Amino acid sequence: MNIRAVKGNILQEKCDALVLGVFSGTQGYAGIVRAIDRVLDGLLTTVTADEQFGGKEGEAISVHTHGKVPAERVLIVGMGDRKTASTESIRRALGTTVKNIQRFGAKQICMPLVGMGVNGMSAQDAAQALVEGALLADYRYLVFKPSEAKRALKHGIMTLTIIEPDQKVVHQAERGIGLGDMHVRATVYARDLVNEPASRMTPTHLRDHAIKIAKHADGITLKVYDKAACEKMGMGAYLSVARGSEEPPYFLHLVYKPQKRSKTKVALIGKGITFDSGGLSLKPSDSMETMKCDMAGAAAVLGVFSVLSDLKPDGEVHGLIAATENMPSGKASKPGDIVTAMNGKSIEIFNTDAEGRLALADCLSYAVKRIKPDVMVDLATLTGACMVALGPDIAAVLGTNAKLCDELIRASEKSGESLWKLPLPVEYQSFIHGEHADVRNTSRVRGGGAITAGLFLREFAGDVPWAHVDIAGPAFIERESRSYIPKGGSGFGVRTLLNFLRS
Ligand code: BES
Ligand code: ZN
Ligand code: ZN
Repeated sequence: MNIRAVKGNILQEKCDALVLGVFSGTQGYAGIVRAIDRVLDGLLTTVTADEQFGGKEGEAISVHTHGKVPAERVLIVGMGDRKTASTESIRRALGTTVKNIQRFGAKQICMPLVGMGVNGMSAQDAAQALVEGALLADYRYLVFKPSEAKRALKHGIMTLTIIEPDQKVVHQAERGIGLGDMHVRATVYARDLVNEPASRMTPTHLRDHAIKIAKHADGITLKVYDKAACEKMGMGAYLSVARGSEEPPYFLHLVYKPQKRSKTKVALIGKGITFDSGGLSLKPSDSMETMKCDMAGAAAVLGVFSVLSDLKPDGEVHGLIAATENMPSGKASKPGDIVTAMNGKSIEIFNTDAEGRLALADCLSYAVKRIKPDVMVDLATLTGACMVALGPDIAAVLGTNAKLCDELIRASEKSGESLWKLPLPVEYQSFIHGEHADVRNTSRVRGGGAITAGLFLREFAGDVPWAHVDIAGPAFIERESRSYIPKGGSGFGVRTLLNFLRS
């Protein structure tokens, strides 16, 4: 789908479908909707009343224009409550739009810049949200359904044109389209990686993606550490996870350097377990079904890096991924094993299924020792407990620096991704004290699993301001809840991180 903005009069535009947004509880129509309703002799008023269309999120109604305007159809889409409207309302409305359009196969669609001006929304932000909603809703993972992919390409929406009478608005919209397009490319990159079956998406495959990104982008370099190199660095925690697998592990360090030298450094760390069977503490079958998603943090980091040379942030950005499978075998690490992380702390492994924190312990230690960033953020599908606490759609943020956590939350509000802060209480610290080692990899106490996992990670964050985002819920969608986020890998975190880097 190609999206552009042009100056024009939407009433005179020829297209297969004209899309209009209506807020809920609207009494009588105003503006463009009213103008079109008049030309259609009140058809919109009649049909929406008949069908009890209320303008709520997810609602849509289509009417045929029978030649009264050049557009063949009009699709009215619910925008939800005007008082609480935000860019997220636009994304959701566009998701609903794309789904409804797909039903009647329109190819050329036109619409005004819905939402612009409402609650102070700028033309640029409205256009960006429009692009994100439309293109992210249009996403499907069809690598293994080539004929369906062909059909989707042939019968899908070809162009979406934003039509506004004011040239200045058109210019601002164009900037928003550019940003939206970048956010979508990065998100789709992450979704594709997560959706790829684990037997293809191995640590080697992740490494090759990082190599490709570094090769094709300006200002990005990559260091790849193989198992022997990781051993030399003392990454005993990470390597203990890799022991049971036939697939070689790779530790990846991407670096983006801006053209103007910069002193600020941000490190982004992504959990990169390409498949989490649980190891010897084997998961039950149904919990394992979706565990190809356990590299969603890494996918988000790679998604971000795939567009960094377009985003051009002012500071240095480092990306760290400790890629490995977590598998059971005769060589696998065992409950009771004690390993030592790169920062010298010893860890008693009680449960080999709490492997993400082991791999991340060495990522954090590496960042503290080798990069010394100003801030570091890790994204990880870390705990089922986080899903118990916050449900499937909300991620948790925990960290040592309130300002950093707040900045991430602010970035997430812009992207429409939900982040909720959880505490790191000192009172719980003793829950992860080891008996024969400095720390243990699971809590001695039931409950609060997302928090104790965060406390474990803190042991490796040194003095660097650090935030941990547990994306176990929203990284992989099993029950669709938003129109623009289909089932499977969601690319969660990518757009929030891009907003964060831009601020
Ligand atoms: N990868 C899982 C967490 C997870 C669960 C992600 C569900 C996405 C959806 C993680 O490695 C894990 O298995 N965590 C354990 C920790 C426990 C053994 C302390 C969990 O949450 O059960
Ligand atoms: Zn696990
Ligand atoms: Zn895991």
